[in-house]
Amino acid sequence: MKERLLQESTPADADDRLPVSQVNGEKTSEYISSLVPDLPDWLADTERRAKREEVPIIRKEAQGLLRFLLSARQPKSILEVGTAVGFSAAFMEDCVGYGVPLTTIEKVPARIEAAKRLFTERSELAAITLREGDAAEVLAELAAEGRKFDFVFLDAAKAQYPIYWQLIRPLLADGAYFVADNVLQEGSIAESKFTVQRRDRTIHLRMREFVRELFGEKSVVSTLLPVGDGMTVSVYHER
Ligand SMILES: C[S@@+](CC[C@H](N)C(=O)[O-])C[C@H]1O[C@@H](n2cnc3c(N)ncnc32)[C@H](O)[C@@H]1O
Repeated sequence: MKERLLQESTPADADDRLPVSQVNGEKTSEYISSLVPDLPDWLADTERRAKREEVPIIRKEAQGLLRFLLSARQPKSILEVGTAVGFSAAFMEDCVGYGVPLTTIEKVPARIEAAKRLFTERSELAAITLREGDAAEVLAELAAEGRKFDFVFLDAAKAQYPIYWQLIRPLLADGAYFVADNVLQEGSIAESKFTVQRRDRTIHLRMREFVRELFGEKSVVSTLLPVGDGMTVSVYHER
């Protein structure tokens, strides 16, 4: 089988390498993004405003994956780490048909204000609770409160992902999905740490650590998808 695959690959004198995937690239990304369903007008406005103000929010491809996963899991409770101005929280509520309790965490005051404004302006978003403060502290509080979630979306400080994962694990209900964004870091995660700019090395090391711990964890089955900036998707099973 391997032999046949090698024959099909180029160049013809391919050595022992298996064929490299050629599917990732700008055109593919644009094409996948074009398949993502349109947003309601008010949510598209929120997305446009966030982009104009250079607030980092989930990309179209990530939206497509999240919508699919939320539809598959049909969560009764959602947790988000990293609200920014509330776009992805509002987006996830739209995916589940609104009314599903969603807790989201943010620590930057200006973003908290903007997100609160959105959540109060739109009556569809009444099920969203914004927890203000440092994510690590709020996650520990949620565990102390005995909270469990069916769906957790991690999209906050990338260098903290290993710590967040340790704090999120106890919050997962049986069968929960755990999704983390920006894991491939524009592809740099696959590079050697020596080729990564010095200032990006901490994130590189921590992201590698996060992925290693996630994939080494017996209670979850995980995959890393080259969607958007790279997303891990894990399913948690109590053993
Ligand atoms: C990429 S943005 C989130 C985007 C949002 N999920 C969306 O797609 O609409 C990451 C957010 O995490 C917040 N954040 C970073 N570190 C944090 C921390 N330690 N505690 C709480 N929030 C944090 C940042 O302030 C920022 O608004």
